Order: sequence, then C-alpha cells, then structure tokens
Amino acid sequence: MRKLTIVALTVLLGLLVIGGCAQKNKDYDLDYLVLVNKLNPLPDDWEDKIRTVSFTNTVGNNVEVEERAYEAYLKLKKDLKKQGIYVDLDSARRSIAEQQQIIDDFTEQYGADYTEKVVAKPGLSEHHTGLALDLYLIIDGVNVDENEDMMQYPDIWEVIHEKLDDYGFILRYLPEKEHITGYAYEPWHIRYVNDKEIAKEIMDKGITLEGYLGAVNETEVSLDYDKSVLYTKAELDEVFTRIKCQFASWEGVELHALRYAGDTCNNDANLAWVNSLEGKNFSRIIEVFSDFHTPKEGYGTLEPDKDYQDYQWWLACGEDGDWDIVSFGY
Ligand code: DAL
Ligand code: ZN
Repeated sequence: MRKLTIVALTVLLGLLVIGGCAQKNKDYDLDYLVLVNKLNPLPDDWEDKIRTVSFTNTVGNNVEVEERAYEAYLKLKKDLKKQGIYVDLDSARRSIAEQQQIIDDFTEQYGADYTEKVVAKPGLSEHHTGLALDLYLIIDGVNVDENEDMMQYPDIWEVIHEKLDDYGFILRYLPEKEHITGYAYEPWHIRYVNDKEIAKEIMDKGITLEGYLGAVNETEVSLDYDKSVLYTKAELDEVFTRIKCQFASWEGVELHALRYAGDTCNNDANLAWVNSLEGKNFSRIIEVFSDFHTPKEGYGTLEPDKDYQDYQWWLACGEDGDWDIVSFGY
C-alpha cells in the first residue's frame, strides 16, 4: 500500500514536472533571428517575452543572458576548454541605461569616433536582446578583456569562430562588412540564433545577419589594390570600407567593384586640387574607381537602372590618421 502510494506520488510529480516544462516552452516563442541594428530598434514587446539567467563572471561582474543562449554558451565554453582555450562573458544582455554608460565610458577613454564604430546607441544595440554575447579570453589565468588586448590573439579567435555554428552562434561583426553591419570587426561579439543549420549557412558563406535575412543585398564587391608602394593593404582596405559605407547609405545602389587608381594619383597637381577643395594641407591622397548599378527608381542625381563604370572617389588622410572622402563623381 505504502509502495503504491509512493509510486502514485512519483508519477503525479513526474506529470507535474512534464506539464510545467510543456507550459514553460509553450509560452516561450522568442524570435531568435530578430534583427537589431542601426536601422532596427529592439521590438517593443521584447522585454515581456525574454527569459534570462544571470551569473557572476571571473572579474566579479553580473552577466545576464537569454536562457537558451546561455545553455549553448556553456557547451561552447566546455568544448573550447578541451582545446585549452578559456573564455568568459564580459557582457550579454544590457539595459538602455547600461548601454548609455558604455557610450559615456568609451567616449571618455577612446574618443567619440572610435566609440561610434564599436558601440551602438541605446535602443539600437543587439545586446538588449540577451542573444548577443561579448566573450573575453583568459590566458595563463589572466583576464584579457580590453578590446585592443583581445585583438592581439587572432589565432585563438579563429579557433573560437570555427566552433560557433556547432552551438547555434554566428560571428556578428565581420571584418570588411562594416558598411553592412555599421560596426567595425569585433571578434568577441557572438550572436545566438538557436539554429545550427542557419548558423552554419551564415558562417560558411561569410555573410552578415542583415544579408541572410535579406535586409541588405550582400553582393560581393571585387577589390583591386593595384601594386602600391605608398599605401599598405590595411590602408587601402580602410579606404575601400569608407567608400562601401557611403554606398550602403545610397538606397538600392548595388556596388560591384572598387579599384585603387595607383600611386601616380598622389601627384603634386592632384594634391593641390584636393587641398584647394578642403582648404587643408594633405600630403596623402587616394583615388579609387568604382563600378555600380543604380535602382529602377534612380537615386539622387544618378540615372535610373544604369551601370556606372569608373566613377571616381577621392580620399585624403587627415592628421588623425583617418581617411575621409573629399570628393566623388565623374
Ligand atoms: N558593440 C555592439 C555594436 C553594441 O554596442 O551593441
Ligand atoms: Zn557586443
């Protein structure tokens, strides 16, 4: 009799637990592919839907993460540990106030320009979703959590990035995709999408979430660096990215190719002309040719549905070392 009561109670308890779980999952229909970026704010109902867990990281800070993203992260972390790579989470879900605090701290420490490239405005940060996780490295027992320091370990990031899709994560801010994501490369910022197949497709193709979701037309842009002795590939990449960012703001215009015009563009006559435009005394200028196609409805003064070839761009390097567009057109 006693045994029967225990069995009955166990069954009842089991049913309650199963029922509880079913209820919990039924209520939870989070959009794990939600797009939050400079153009798409956090959905209004997000705060009511999201379920999170919190823990304390190795530097003693509280970190809050969406619950499935956290489970997946723990598996990733365990897998990395087997390879001798130790990681923790610097930050995941952030409130509007926390995002503003980061902007204030970064602006004070690094200046407004850098801050704009790496920190989203409050309300427009993917971190509000709880699905964006910033990793940091623990190397020989030392926490490496400053951006510049973390950048010194490309080999470690490569191993981490290779494993992301196995756990439903993608790398969100890819190198040379700043014109699409709006942010510079961040090897530490990973995004949970709750679907290994989708994650694999995005990572294998090397595309952005914007491109995968069709929010932008992520066509390949062919780049021609010519053979420069004046400029490094990194400098030319910076120049190309500047131009790509400009194209990204030209709605419907599809960029196909960018070509460095060659070192002879940096001659006295061109320098005099660029300096006269800006009233400055630049010593380093770059000319780039672009090929692109305009949308059916046209864009600004550009003609509709037309292939443009050899459309010129001029950029100059200021005293701050940044390349800025000074002129474009035919
Ligand atoms: N670092 C990313 C862009 C953010 O602040 O949301
Ligand atoms: Zn981040």
